[in-house]
Amino acid sequence: MSSNRTAPLVQVPRGLAGVVVTDTEIGDVRGAEGFYHYRQYSAVELARTRGFEDVWHLLVHGDLPDPGQRAAFTAEVAGLRQLPDEVREALPAVAAGRVAGPLAGLRTALSLLGAARGFRPVYDIDAGRRRADTLAACAAVPTLLTALYRLGQGREPVEPRVDLSYAANYLYMLTGEEPQARQARAVEQYLISTIDHGFNASTFTARVIASTGADVAACLVGALGALSGPLHGGAPSRALDTLDAIGTPDRIDPWVRERVLAGDRIMGFGHAVYRTEDPRSRMLREIALGFGGPRAGFAVEVERHVEAILAELKPGRELHTNVEFYAGVVMELCGLPREMFTPTFAAGRVVGWSANILEQAADPKIIRPVARYVGPEAPVPVPAPAPVPAGG
Ligand SMILES: CC(C)(COP(=O)(O)OP(=O)(O)OC[C@H]1O[C@@H](n2cnc3c(N)ncnc32)[C@H](O)[C@@H]1OP(=O)(O)O)[C@@H](O)C(=O)NCCC(=O)NCCS
Repeated sequence: MSSNRTAPLVQVPRGLAGVVVTDTEIGDVRGAEGFYHYRQYSAVELARTRGFEDVWHLLVHGDLPDPGQRAAFTAEVAGLRQLPDEVREALPAVAAGRVAGPLAGLRTALSLLGAARGFRPVYDIDAGRRRADTLAACAAVPTLLTALYRLGQGREPVEPRVDLSYAANYLYMLTGEEPQARQARAVEQYLISTIDHGFNASTFTARVIASTGADVAACLVGALGALSGPLHGGAPSRALDTLDAIGTPDRIDPWVRERVLAGDRIMGFGHAVYRTEDPRSRMLREIALGFGGPRAGFAVEVERHVEAILAELKPGRELHTNVEFYAGVVMELCGLPREMFTPTFAAGRVVGWSANILEQAADPKIIRPVARYVGPEAPVPVPAPAPVPAGG
């Protein structure tokens, strides 16, 4: 280990669990209580009572809008849904190369959007311009995602509408049809509930990149990469795959036991922070049951059995459903294809990343931890290169 440092090294737990790395006014997660909040409000209460644009305003501006502010903010962000021509024209090529679907395509598309809109390093621009760049990026995300999805299916993208809410317009651009109010509202509640959730991996990634002074698109693209991993945002379609794989109530017990005993994780269960029920899961379960139908009923049955089996096989751990389990059920009931589950998560979380980017950009300190070197003792002499064989 290097010994000539000015400050002593601080040893922290694996995965930085429980380590406070900065101060934030955006929100927090209280894992032991099963509670999380945006600013001073319960996130679940916001999802139950407010629209997406209100909560977006809260995250970016620090307060809920009054009616006049709501109208102005809603019009401002709706006006940013249209894509610049050069981005629109490039999307078929991005979609054609889709290996991992619209979420992977969104990384490329956001980079293109940043270039087309003239995003500059947050280090070089003032707070007003930073805010404007985050709004331009977030407002375009549903347009980009739905265009990439449709192009990947060999269909034409649907132009955004300014008269619909963020969530309703998202569903509209996906299907080409105006969604039922109930479905639009369910998706809106899901989107609000996923906007922010403490210093998770993607939020931390966004803040690390923002701390270097990079532009807003660079921060969001990095965050998207972190979100794409199955241990973070990639689980909702897998949770639904699990319901499909189990198939019928009589198969729940043997299926789950076999997987857990083989060391597999049951998707949609467990959480890095919650040691009680995930409050998002509770809200989404209610929404799913409100729709009714066999899928929601089966999901409740699976939840009950899996919790009991995990309590038996993993004693001492509090393993309950996380946001992903019922998110998949709700999104399916709202007509979203599985391929769009994680992208839809991203369409909400992008607002939370943006608030974090703005907060981080206001602090000029670069995030730069250290790693403990555990390789062979250094230095040793560099071996002489092997002689090049004659004629080689
Ligand atoms: C979310 C998750 C990554 C949290 O991980 P974590 O806090 O690091 O939890 P740990 O790895 O400390 O898990 C502790 C124990 O519970 C087990 N466990 C955790 N989640 C489990 C799950 N979903 N199914 C079965 N066992 C699980 C672990 O295998 C571990 O057992 P061990 O001590 O015998 O090795 C983890 O619960 C998981 O992989 N869940 C499934 C994927 C998922 O739903 N992701 C979406 C997250 S919102």
